Amino acid sequence: MSSKLNILISASEVVPFAKSGGLADVVGALPKALQELGHNVIVIMPRYYIIDKDKYSLTPLDGALGVPMGVIGEEWAEIYEGVLPNSEVPVYFIENDHYFGRKNLYDENGIGFNDNDNRFIFLSRASMQLAKKLDFKPDIIHANDWHTASIPIMLKTIYASDPHFKNTASVLSIHNLQHQGKFYKGGMDILDIGWEHFNHHELEEYGGINLLKGGIVHANAINAVSHKYSEEIKTAEFGWGLEDVIIDNQDKLFGILNGVDYDEWSPLIDELIPSKYDIDNLDGKKICKEELQSKFNLPIDENIPLIGLVGRLADQKGITLLAEAIWEILELDLQIVLLGTGEAWAEEFFLDIAKKYPNKFGCYIGYKNDLAHQIEAGSDFFLMPSLFEPCGLNQIYSLRYGTLPIVRATGGLDDTIDNYQPYTGVGNGFKFNAPTASALYNTINWAVDTYYNDKDGMQNLIQNAMKKRFSWKVAGESYIKMYEYAIYRCQK
Ligand code: ADP
Ligand code: GLC
Repeated sequence: MSSKLNILISASEVVPFAKSGGLADVVGALPKALQELGHNVIVIMPRYYIIDKDKYSLTPLDGALGVPMGVIGEEWAEIYEGVLPNSEVPVYFIENDHYFGRKNLYDENGIGFNDNDNRFIFLSRASMQLAKKLDFKPDIIHANDWHTASIPIMLKTIYASDPHFKNTASVLSIHNLQHQGKFYKGGMDILDIGWEHFNHHELEEYGGINLLKGGIVHANAINAVSHKYSEEIKTAEFGWGLEDVIIDNQDKLFGILNGVDYDEWSPLIDELIPSKYDIDNLDGKKICKEELQSKFNLPIDENIPLIGLVGRLADQKGITLLAEAIWEILELDLQIVLLGTGEAWAEEFFLDIAKKYPNKFGCYIGYKNDLAHQIEAGSDFFLMPSLFEPCGLNQIYSLRYGTLPIVRATGGLDDTIDNYQPYTGVGNGFKFNAPTASALYNTINWAVDTYYNDKDGMQNLIQNAMKKRFSWKVAGESYIKMYEYAIYRCQK
């Protein structure tokens, strides 16, 4: 048994307070698992305008927090304290109206805020300053994605000789290598770490700064959120230009798969779905399907296969493949419901398809958590044709709801979904390899054919899917091993 660690986790989004994607699910769940394993965990995030202080009973800490911002000078933050629901994990909210008093997390109308560099350097620096104010001496600081990637950099530079962080190692999780935090080099003066770090081996890239790159170089360990993704990012196809940096740092690279918060995502206790159910009695799932069809004004028919899709409408998610194949797919005897928001062309395109095929295709453009749960529960299949997918959570949620994933074999999708083998009954979903519209179509066709003509096979698949668990306890134990390795490297 490892000793009790002090762990500080800093992130730009955390469920239930603010979420745009899976990062928030992870940071809302991992700390609870770590605490249950006996460790001392705190979480730090921004207090965005949308986070209601009363709803979450946030209480202010005494005294403002000074946050040095290089040439800008010292900025100030109010600190609020809350807890992660169903736990005792403290969450500290960094409040500064100028940086975080906005409706959206990162952008407006799909365009990133032009001061995102300053906003998240501020969050990173505030996380360090707050550890001192709280007199919390972390053994580990766990940063996530480019937003807090400055922390491992700061730890090795500005705070290198600070006694408060004498025994602190850092870990950086890469949830998505596509987004790297690339900015104008002037950000060096805000980071305030010294221009000697503006070089090709640390932060510099094509004349600008790349915060994720700097974080990868300086963290004591890095985690890509599935084993397969940790391999993929060493290649030009998935490395987004950082493949050589990943290869250079592969001795400290881990690939720990995300878990699932089954308090949130389980058909047995889900308060957001019309009827609860579990593996021994699927009657409730039929009711969920009916209600879902009715919600999207589709013909109510329990015998037609219903495919759900929930996600960011971004290139990553394979929406171009779906758009290309949709005409052929809709010739099959099936229904599709889609919930998503993202690229303007995709929103328009899928709304238009829904108008043209009102009896087959339902579309809701927007972000709606309850509907995401209802789609998980009410669909027969769940579609994720992603071009790349670091981990992917929806396909794992789908398994628990007995909704069979149809996925492309990439990243975490490949690690979590076992392809159906009709002769042995093995499998929990349907997979394809080629990133093409025809491979997507063929696999949907296969799933639909299985639905109509291989009822025993379907039952088997559903049972296999619903039995599978991806517990945060198991993932948490792997994180602890990674943290211990990071500490070892830091002390070396
Ligand atoms: P990513 O983080 O790349 O967006 P994941 O599969 O890891 O993909 O996680 C996506 C999370 O965001 C899931 O919890 C999913 O239910 C949720 N989500 C995505 N889009 C929407 C939406 N439009 N409405 C509600 N929830 C959404
Ligand atoms: C990212 C990835 C997704 C992953 C999530 C949580 O947003 O796109 O695949 O599941 O982070 O790690």
